[in-house]
Amino acid sequence: MLRSTFQFCQVALLLLSSGAPIAALSDQKMNRFIDQLMSQMTLEEKIGQMTQYSANMAQTGVNLPQNYEREVLRGRVGSIFNAYTPEFTLKMQRLAVEQTRLKIPLLYGFDVVHGHRTVFPIPLAESSSWDLHLMQATARIAAAEAAADGLHWTFAPMVDVARDPRWGRVSESTGEDPWLNSLIAAARVRGFQGEVLSDPTRVMACVKHFAAYGAAEGGRDYNVVDISKRELFETYLPPFLAAIKAGVGSLMTAFNDISGVPATADGWLLRDILRDRWGFTGFVVSDYTAIPELIPHGVASNLEHAAELAINAGVDMEMQGSTYIDHVENLIRSGRVNVKTVDEAVRRLLAAKYKLGLFDDPYRNVSKERAARVLMAPTHLQVARQMARKSIVLLKNDKQVLPIKAGEKIALIGPLADRKRDMIGNWSGAGDWRIAVSLRDGLSEAYGSKRLNYARGSNILEDRDLLAFLNQHGGEIDIDPRSPAEMIREAVSVAKRSDVIVVALGETQGMSGEAASRTQIRVPENQLLLLRALRTLNKPIVLVLMNGRPLVLEEESQLADAILETWFLGTQGGHAIADILLGRENPSGKLTMSFPRDEGQIPVYYSHRNTGRPQLSGGDRWVSRYIDSANEPLYPFGWGLSYTQFEYSDLQLSAGAIKPDQKLVVNVTVSNAGSRAGEETVQLYIRDLVGSITRPLKQLRGFKKVYLEAGKSQTVQFELTLEDLKFYNRKLTFAAEPGDFEVMVGGNSKEFLKSNFRLTD
Ligand code: BGC
Repeated sequence: MLRSTFQFCQVALLLLSSGAPIAALSDQKMNRFIDQLMSQMTLEEKIGQMTQYSANMAQTGVNLPQNYEREVLRGRVGSIFNAYTPEFTLKMQRLAVEQTRLKIPLLYGFDVVHGHRTVFPIPLAESSSWDLHLMQATARIAAAEAAADGLHWTFAPMVDVARDPRWGRVSESTGEDPWLNSLIAAARVRGFQGEVLSDPTRVMACVKHFAAYGAAEGGRDYNVVDISKRELFETYLPPFLAAIKAGVGSLMTAFNDISGVPATADGWLLRDILRDRWGFTGFVVSDYTAIPELIPHGVASNLEHAAELAINAGVDMEMQGSTYIDHVENLIRSGRVNVKTVDEAVRRLLAAKYKLGLFDDPYRNVSKERAARVLMAPTHLQVARQMARKSIVLLKNDKQVLPIKAGEKIALIGPLADRKRDMIGNWSGAGDWRIAVSLRDGLSEAYGSKRLNYARGSNILEDRDLLAFLNQHGGEIDIDPRSPAEMIREAVSVAKRSDVIVVALGETQGMSGEAASRTQIRVPENQLLLLRALRTLNKPIVLVLMNGRPLVLEEESQLADAILETWFLGTQGGHAIADILLGRENPSGKLTMSFPRDEGQIPVYYSHRNTGRPQLSGGDRWVSRYIDSANEPLYPFGWGLSYTQFEYSDLQLSAGAIKPDQKLVVNVTVSNAGSRAGEETVQLYIRDLVGSITRPLKQLRGFKKVYLEAGKSQTVQFELTLEDLKFYNRKLTFAAEPGDFEVMVGGNSKEFLKSNFRLTD
């Protein structure tokens, strides 16, 4: 007796001291539960778990079409998306757990892309903060709100590397750099999921879109992709791997093909890479109707064939479609799909539900009271304002026009100055734009209306067809019936009475996002007419840009004295912009995507490789260059000014050479040489000078955010290890090669201090 008690204690101690055996035990428990459940399931019920339908979002609230509801009752649906609110989710969940044969709870998914009810800045904006803690915090809040609103699962983070600003979905991305995107992906997964998925204040994340969706030819959404394997491994896959290492629960396939194989039918990607090489154990969902789309792609002859290709490739759940539920049984009967494939998929899907705690409490404590407490809680709004301020990038600030000096008379002008709908951006389905703070609201509240005069100045667009199209898709754009000349006249007369002109121009939110690719990524011409007219007044002009992608700003950069890139900043956007304009907060954002000078330069990104004929000095003829434009973007990756000035000095490396098992320590002194406190993002880039394959001129391998009072300096330290020097070599092996490297440290990818070291054998 004593002996067995002792043994019991020893086992308990062992379990408590290492975590892993406990996890193994709970996995065993889960597996037994799933075995038991699956032994009772019919094939139809199993395929039902692999099926997901969308609810409708109507004026009257969320509802499910009757035919889908009937399918739920028959156990032929595993998941519903576009469904939220306690009322709706609890009602449907009751049907599933009280009225179906096996009482398996539904899994509710939704695109919680940048906040839920409290809307945060669009991801491209958030990434400009380079603040991983804050990005994790906004994901955590988004999860808390989504969970309180009945959701279990978000289709985020989107981690597609984005190098083509014509592609509208760059607004959902976190920019052009795979290394930075990987860190952000991991932070956001942790923010959404927390430590354990059973925590009812968290949701499961879904990393998307696997893979290389950002490389769509011509920047046209859904278009084909043709890239090398090395480019895939080096540029597009790393953020997915980072999300997987951070424990992401699910993954979504991409719409595109890669070199002829649609991602949704790509067994090499979904099994060999994802499962065998990376060991991903979560489940894979298709993108919206991506399975039937295998027919127009031209790889499937009919729906049954499409189902066969997708399931055999490794797609566990079909989003929005009945291709699986209609055809997989038959495919099994005819031997084209193995029943084991279905069983593995269902096991993964049930495991996700189990880990979310849905079998213990299918309602996850959801209630109207909890929702009222959590949704848009004051602390959430505070974080939204903080994140919005940090997302703003000061592109230009000649003669220190900004911040606006107290007492100056401000003319607030422009078609985006008084817009609430645009402030919350696209992919903000659960957000209420009516309560968003417009720039006009934010500035009036902060500055008072006595010294603030407003004129609209122009419509967002004069292209009536495009306006009508955008309004059909939720644009909420009202059109001023006055002629452009009349509106400009009014704006000029308002501007004449001011000391400084703040003009808000750019895109309406529907001009970026999904299915919003543009060939001309410019401020619309009618808005430019307004800017040109204002310039003639010879008063300082602050251009406040709102947009979901990098824009071509050659002319604007000459017409405006200062430019603030404010993207679409979310619920609290107007307050945040006012905080920056008035100098209550010092801007600190840095671009995560290059801003081209002209669309003809696209793709333009900082980490490009050298050529055999690089352009070294301006005038050479027979080198890789344009004869009508510089090669460099107008504003490069990492660019962003502050109201103070930072200086870099004393770059020191701990050694001139390191062995593979040694670290290199890099120190640099950063000083605040201006007259106010500010935050700087110190960036470290490397270059492998000679490789077995050509290497990028620069690759980000470190960054640190430092806050410095005026006149203060700080030593900022980085460490580089062998991992940082590795790349996919000639044989596509991830390895570092001995030789010389350059280290560059500075405040952006263009201006830096430089030193060298050697990696020895
Ligand atoms: C998008 C996905 C999204 C899904 C569900 C698709 O059109 O590509 O990113 O998660 O719709 O809304």
